Order: sequence, then structure tokens, then C-alpha cells
Amino acid sequence: MNDTPLQAPPLQAPPLELLRQRSSTKWRTYPDDVLPLFVAELDFALAPAITDVLTQAVARGDTGYTPPDPGIRTAFSAYARRHWDWEVTPERVRSTADVMMGVVELLRATITPGDRVVITPPVYPPFADCILEAGGVVERVPLVDTGDGWELDLLGVEAAFAGGARAMLLCNPHNPTGTVHSRETLAALADIAAGFGATVISDEIHAPLTHPGARFTPYLASSPVAARTGYAVTSASKTYNLAGLKCAVMVTAAAETNAVVQAMPAEVEWRTGLFGALANVAAFAPESDEWLLSLRAALDENRRLLAGLLAEHVPGARYRIPDAGFLAWVDLSALGWGDNPAAKILREARVALHYGPAFGAEGAGYVRINFGCSPEVLREAVERVGALVRA
Ligand SMILES: Cc1ncc(COP(=O)(O)O)c(C=O)c1O
Repeated sequence: MNDTPLQAPPLQAPPLELLRQRSSTKWRTYPDDVLPLFVAELDFALAPAITDVLTQAVARGDTGYTPPDPGIRTAFSAYARRHWDWEVTPERVRSTADVMMGVVELLRATITPGDRVVITPPVYPPFADCILEAGGVVERVPLVDTGDGWELDLLGVEAAFAGGARAMLLCNPHNPTGTVHSRETLAALADIAAGFGATVISDEIHAPLTHPGARFTPYLASSPVAARTGYAVTSASKTYNLAGLKCAVMVTAAAETNAVVQAMPAEVEWRTGLFGALANVAAFAPESDEWLLSLRAALDENRRLLAGLLAEHVPGARYRIPDAGFLAWVDLSALGWGDNPAAKILREARVALHYGPAFGAEGAGYVRINFGCSPEVLREAVERVGALVRA
């Protein structure tokens, strides 16, 4: 499906009155006069197969522990083949509560406390926290701004490994820039890491939302070296808006790396939520592919709509349309609103955006905008910022 043209009609988000009845972080952090476009939750209704499986489970009172094999391994393997031509052996898939927990457990299993672990800021803020939680030390190798996009600084990563860093957390596709790393880049990274015996853990949670014109390569499928040495962690939680249900998968492609995952304590898998597992299986099933196409059609429209809205209302903004996901990384430094423009925007425009500096020093002057909402909400948010620009 990587190259499938978008044939489905764009999903429509429910009206704001209904969304404000939700009880999740996005809707319960700020008062009702604030438009929330910060945390990465989607405003769209769930895929019908997910609604069905969860509704039936509630009706049955089916809220106990997750069984040993809820079907997630085979469901993910079939999904990987269908969407990315990636052959995943079900026995090399193990579930846990969420992607960041998978990352922490993989770090615990592969580094020694005190080891340095590379991240590539600006990057999803919990990456640094997870390294600390696993006893590691954060080593920053910022993405390179190429002028029309961002890419990994492979020479910088090599220097970090040569200097003793033992692992790297890869964000593939990258949050917040929406960068989809090329197969060549990933294969080169695998060679570099293998040369130093360092571990690469690839977070691929945004992969199903790769937009037309870009092509997602699973890290483990980028080269035989990556397959032999790497780890991937992913979940349906972002694309299908299931973050509160707690289920993610750790994936390996070789006996040695699989042995590392299988050697983790049973508790790691036991933390998988039953509703998370049921919902992930339904998300990965072919019957949810039509919904995914409709979601991608809506996001594809919104990522381009945002460019027009910013040009019209916030002319100083610098925005590159992301190749994946529903997050926009927008440079507002030209407005002179300081390192953290989202603070002023929240206070004075009543729009909640994610704070740029939370993603690293490279985020000074930036905001991250969640465009996983209706075009109307996106328009209203940008118009509110525009009014502040004019004020
Ligand atoms: C790159 C990345 N990884 C992980 C997560 C969180 O995933 P989980 O809730 O499964 O830990 C997010 C959430 O936005 C993310 O953007």
C-alpha cells in the first residue's frame, strides 16, 4: 500500500461539541475556550472494526487479563507484508504496554547503565526521558537541516559511536519533522552501528501515515545488516488513536536479537492491555485498510491546507509539508515571540500547540501543530494565531 493512490473520501471529524465530551489528555488539559492542537491524538472517529470489537468486549464484561496470544503477532505480520512488503516472522514479535515502554525495555536489555545513547533532536521529548529511565546518558546528534528538509547526520552518529555511544533511538518516520528516512540512509546507519557493535532501536509508530510521494522503509528491511542487528517498536496506537489502550509490539528479524526480546521478563508482555491488543488486531486487519486510506486522504489535505493558511495568516511562519504523520513543525522565530512562541499563543490566542523547545534546543522559536483535526478547526486555530500577529 506504500504507493497506493488515495481513492478513499477524506474522513470527517466529529463536531467540536462532541469532541469536548472526550476525557483524554487532548480534551481535558485546557479549558473549553482553548483549541487543543498539541498532544498527538486524532479527532476522527475510530475505524468501525475497532469500535465493534471494543463494544462487544464491553458488552461481554470482557475486561480481564490479556491472553498469551491475542493474535497481535500474526495480525502485525500480515499488516507489514500488505503495507510495506516486509516479511515479519510472527514468533519474532512480542507485545508490551506501549512504544515507549518497549523502547525502555530494549535499552535495559542492550545497554549498561551509564552508556551513552544517541538521539537526533529535534525529536519526540520522551526519547530523552526513556534513556534516563533505562540508566543511559543522552547523546545528542541533531538532524541536519538540508534547506528543504531534514536528514540524519550520519557522520555525527558515526563520531558518537566512535566516541563510545552504545545505542541510538531512531525515529522512523521522524516526529516532529515528518521526515521519512530513505532506505539508503537506514542501510548506511545500520552499517555504521554494526561497525561499532552499537544497537539501533527504530520507533516506527508513524509509519502507516506516510503520505503520497514518500516511501516508508522499515528499518529492519533496509538491509541484511539492519535485519541482523536492529530492533523495531511500533503500535497501531498513533494512526488508529488507541494510545490509552496500551499495546505495542517489539519486532526483530534475527535469532540473536529475538533472543534478547524473548529473554525479557514475562511482566513486560503481561503489561499489554487487553483492549489494546483487541484494538490493535482490529486495526491491523484488512477490513480497517479502507478507513486508513480515508484518514490519509484527510491528513494529506490538511498538511497542504496548513501551508496555505500559514501563508495567508502568519506570513512569518516557516513550514515544510511533512512526508508522514499529522504533526507540523513550524518555525515562528521570525515573529519575535521568543524561544517558546506556543506559550504566548496559548495565553493570548487560546490555541494549545506543542512547545518547540521541548523537542531540544533546536526547537527554539518553533511550535508543533497537530493537524489531525477537521479543516475547520485547523483554520480557526491558524486564524486565531493570525489575529495575534496583527494585534
Ligand atoms: C515517535 C513517537 N513514539 C512514541 C509515541 C508514543 O507511543 P506510545 O503511547 O505507544 O508510547 C509517540 C506519540 O506521539 C511518538 O510520536
